[in-house]
Amino acid sequence: MKDSIFVKTGYDPETVVQDGNRFLLANGYLGIRGTVEEADSSALPAVNLAGLYDRYENRWREPVNAPMGLFAKLILNDRPMAIGETEPASHTLSIDFRQGVFSRETDFGAVVLYSERIASLMAPHLLAAKLSLHFRERGEAVLTTGISTDLWDLNGPHLNDYRYRTGETLLCESVTGELRIPVAVAQTASADFPAVETFRVTDKGVFRDLRFSVSEGETVTVSIFSAVYTGQDVPSPAESAAVLCNRAKASGYSLCLQAHTGAWDEVWKRCGVDLDGDASAALALTASQYYLNSIAPRHAGNLSIPARGLSGQTYKGAVFWDSEIFLFPMFVYTQPEIAASLLRYRIETLPGARKKAREYGYRGAFYAWESQEGGAEGCTDFNVVDVFTHRPVRTYFRDKQIHISGDIAYALWEYWRITGDPALLLEGGAEVILECARFYLSRANLHLDSDLIDFADVIGPDEYHERVTNNAFTNRIIRYCWENALRLPEIFSEEPERFSKLLDRLDYHADWSRLKNAVERLSNPRVRNGVTEQFQGYFDLEDASLETVRTRLCDPREYWGGDHGVAGSTQIIKQADVITLIALFPEDFTDEAVAANWAYYEPRTEHGSSLSACMYALTACRIGRQDLAWKHFVNTASIDLNGGGKQWAGEIYIGGTHPAANGGAWMIAALGFAGLSVRDGTIVLRPHLPKEITKLCFPIELRGRRFQVTVTHETHSIEEI
Ligand code: BGC
Repeated sequence: MKDSIFVKTGYDPETVVQDGNRFLLANGYLGIRGTVEEADSSALPAVNLAGLYDRYENRWREPVNAPMGLFAKLILNDRPMAIGETEPASHTLSIDFRQGVFSRETDFGAVVLYSERIASLMAPHLLAAKLSLHFRERGEAVLTTGISTDLWDLNGPHLNDYRYRTGETLLCESVTGELRIPVAVAQTASADFPAVETFRVTDKGVFRDLRFSVSEGETVTVSIFSAVYTGQDVPSPAESAAVLCNRAKASGYSLCLQAHTGAWDEVWKRCGVDLDGDASAALALTASQYYLNSIAPRHAGNLSIPARGLSGQTYKGAVFWDSEIFLFPMFVYTQPEIAASLLRYRIETLPGARKKAREYGYRGAFYAWESQEGGAEGCTDFNVVDVFTHRPVRTYFRDKQIHISGDIAYALWEYWRITGDPALLLEGGAEVILECARFYLSRANLHLDSDLIDFADVIGPDEYHERVTNNAFTNRIIRYCWENALRLPEIFSEEPERFSKLLDRLDYHADWSRLKNAVERLSNPRVRNGVTEQFQGYFDLEDASLETVRTRLCDPREYWGGDHGVAGSTQIIKQADVITLIALFPEDFTDEAVAANWAYYEPRTEHGSSLSACMYALTACRIGRQDLAWKHFVNTASIDLNGGGKQWAGEIYIGGTHPAANGGAWMIAALGFAGLSVRDGTIVLRPHLPKEITKLCFPIELRGRRFQVTVTHETHSIEEI
């Protein structure tokens, strides 16, 4: 791992939101946005909690942000030394991706403020910071530190009944509005200088003021520790938070930092990709790997990852198919226990999927399109707000994007295929596959004039075309789900009775006998000149160019999909659809077919989703067109560093980090450029290194053994390490 530090100089209020994302620190349990210590809610600071949701009034349910326990603000000789209030002479933010450390240095003239902070990877409830103040002016200083409740919420407030405690350890206790789940934050600080300490409780939190005299040239340092626990974690969150805070204070900042960076070293050892040749692409890939690894639920074992990670409340903190199709591959090849966690989340939320299927009048498991705790569906019927009328638009992602169940079944099968470990399938995964297969049986449409089974009224990965029939991707993922359901007896070959008991328990025998027949009758897509039709009738839509469709927009934030969207009646698609099908099922397509589909669909793709480019890059590699892949790789890998991706869907803010693109960047490097795959338990490399890369080197973990993959233009190797 080479260069791993990203620095941004200068203060620009316009980039505060984006900086919050790209300087994000996270550890799977929480994510703390990259805002300065003194930020108020206008800068969108947040300590975003994984897996804790709340509904305020009748608004969208979204994840809860905890009070910010690393708040700090300096007043010198009655003047605030604070971004947004005082113009700095210089201001630098930086993040070391390798170590997971955020720092800022601001020169206010009279004082230079340096701080660094961590979201401990070793102790995931802990945040720690060190603040150094170098005074160029003598006088009286007041440094306020504490727990700020001036929170950023998209649809909040979510925390109620604040109770505070002052003293050596500050405490802020509250409960969520909907389910009354306690959330507690503790804070403690240790200063290396004498000061008069007083405490304050205001409508913005609980604070300690340190008053001290400073002389010119003096530097003082304070370490701050904060801990967050909720009622989902422990029985007494306040007590646990206080204990952890005090333990961290007793160890000191340096030891906390050491433990944290040690934990990050281990992560990089297991998955860090070294890319030689193009330094900026290498940094982007490192950043991308950092963002994804920082939100991995290492502490849980049964959690998944929201579509915007832990960067805020956008996308309702919900888990999408992104987890199984885009995030899962990096984890299954490098840290399989995290891949297992993503899938265990689905296994444990099967009751939620059954409930959703019942609600729609189906049987089996229809997983939430936007899954929250317990598999609850977070997606509403009106997921976009029209920019012209300001009215909610009826969208059908929730009801029609049925490929979600098949995506989950696909990843469960992949886990077994790649790791060779049947444990997940034996412990609930098989039941998920069977229930997904059953959902599709009950959702199938019969042709009146033929024997074929159709899937009508669906949405494929391309969300701009709603309510279509026989989306090629959807039908293929359903076929695979049915086929794998039928293969489950292989997994239970040593305990066939266990499998028949499972069928008994699920009252599955009638459905079991229908599966084979269903596979045989499932409609196949139309293929024209080697190009697979995305859905029935797609080729008949207006073949307008992307530029033409763009000129039809009346507002840059206008939603392209749905009934009135500019894309719906044309062949312009939001994101890779048939191309995703090819990436997931490469053996279905000849190289010529891949090339034909790529050439057809790429110019018709808006890449309006960050999930799109990586699928194009992967399939371009497959046909030896790494020249075409490169642009999509760079876009995918650098999306969070550059602040790319759409920020709005109609009037809804959808910004944040992009875990799916982060996972996609690893996929392009490892599965595309290095051509890594596993066939019958054996690692295969079919490299397609672009000219911009001279060497690619990365570790993988397979079936309990660790290997180093090295690819250059001349040679490639897999060595056990
Ligand atoms: C994409 C979906 C994706 C979701 C979350 C949407 O814009 O169309 O495919 O799952 O974002 O990343």
